[in-house]
Amino acid sequence: MRYAICRDTKIENTFEADVVIAGAGLAGLYTALNLDENLRCVIIAKDNIDISSSWLAQGGIAAAINEGDTPELHLEDTVVAGAGLSDIDAATVLVNEGPDDIGNLVKLNVPFDLDEFGELQFTREGGHNKNRVVHAGGDATGRETLKALSHIVSKCKNITFSGQSCLYDIVTGESGVTGVIVKYNDRKFVYIKTENVVIATGGIGQIYKSTTNPSIATGDGIAAAMRAGAKLRNIEFVQFHPTGLWRADSDGNEFLISEAVRGEGGLLVNSKGERFMVGQHELAELAPRDIVARGILKELRDSGEDHAFVDISAKSESFLKTRFPTIYKVCLSQGINIAKDKIPVCPVQHYMMGGIETDIDGRTNIPGLFACGEAANTGVHGANRLASNSMLECLVFGRRAAQFINSSHGKSPPRTAPVLENIPPRQGAQLDYPKHREKIQETMSAHCGALRTTQGLKLALEIISEELSLLESVSDDSLAYLETLNIAAVAKAITEAALNRPESIGSHYLDR
Ligand code: SIN
Repeated sequence: MRYAICRDTKIENTFEADVVIAGAGLAGLYTALNLDENLRCVIIAKDNIDISSSWLAQGGIAAAINEGDTPELHLEDTVVAGAGLSDIDAATVLVNEGPDDIGNLVKLNVPFDLDEFGELQFTREGGHNKNRVVHAGGDATGRETLKALSHIVSKCKNITFSGQSCLYDIVTGESGVTGVIVKYNDRKFVYIKTENVVIATGGIGQIYKSTTNPSIATGDGIAAAMRAGAKLRNIEFVQFHPTGLWRADSDGNEFLISEAVRGEGGLLVNSKGERFMVGQHELAELAPRDIVARGILKELRDSGEDHAFVDISAKSESFLKTRFPTIYKVCLSQGINIAKDKIPVCPVQHYMMGGIETDIDGRTNIPGLFACGEAANTGVHGANRLASNSMLECLVFGRRAAQFINSSHGKSPPRTAPVLENIPPRQGAQLDYPKHREKIQETMSAHCGALRTTQGLKLALEIISEELSLLESVSDDSLAYLETLNIAAVAKAITEAALNRPESIGSHYLDR
């Protein structure tokens, strides 16, 4: 399927921009802020500025700035966590350039937490051999960073922010991108003519039954890029965070118990109070995420229980209230006082290492199409992302994409746009989208999660391919349709990629 819009979809307005950025998380905002002031940029966001995975990010941003740390050590931890599959050139760019971007955030008034000497505070998370994670608002790094950046964006005359605007399709001509089709307010379609599109739409959590990602994370950017012919890479590598807050009445939108809680001394224990990560990895509870998530799942399988616990009760209540204000409050609202009670946790979908294949300047295989942040695959994360490298990746590669656009914009002859009337007609009627969405989520959670089998993946591919074929036959231009279609398309790509990797590595684990 080339376009999700229907043959008779009415485009009500046409605008022009030099750059369109889809997504208003950290990658989108930081890319926009690094564009030349003479480039007219439109940021489209499916919801408001406070609805994104970046906004929810708790732990922090990793960078080798602390005394005794070096980019080389950060690189080593990144590559080890990535199970050796990281692209070394890209990861080297990440660790070398990251410290300057953190310095830039400080200049942009991001209120990082400071120690008693007024210096940046550093914490540790899984897979790091050094304390190198800076944080803000205790456990609200994403929210604090985005508040500061969105304030600046709102003052930039060259940047227009358009909320409630969903990327529907990327339009391409013979020589590359010529525009995007956006649905505004699930009501009207607009066409933005542009030769530079940056996909910064974040992750795909909604293809699973339970996720830390927000409801908008339906893989819209990745699916639109696939329809336009963009190459994906490493899409089989899906990260399950070891410690989502377990709730008996879960609705699938999971709250995270940041890895920083373990970084500050929290222990993982079973219902008997026994630590079970000791002996499984030299870093025990602070092993890379895929190892800890599997450690918990195997413990639960052996015990027959449905959750384990993080125990941080050795710390004082006053420390916990300051260091983890959000976690403290949310847990308390669930009747858990983290200073006294063990926190019930289980692994939950959190991140995708793979995505739209890019080079170190955010370029995809389609001229004019860029990607950064979780939607992109720069190669830095390999088979498993090192904790708190995601916000760093948004910064470094978002900035680099902007710099590339700054230096290349207007240097090639204008592209000729295609005639959209050639979209083939589709005959199918509207479907019960929540039902189809649930079927895909159930299938992906059962067969394409943290523990997989070849047989399960084959079954999943069969089910999801059928769902996708059905959806591709439907003529409907509602958002509910688009999201279900996108979920199915990305789920199929993940399952296919997983089947194409016959060996266990990193987050792709075949449980024989
Ligand atoms: C966390 O706070 O544990 C999440 C940080 C991340 O995903 O890197």
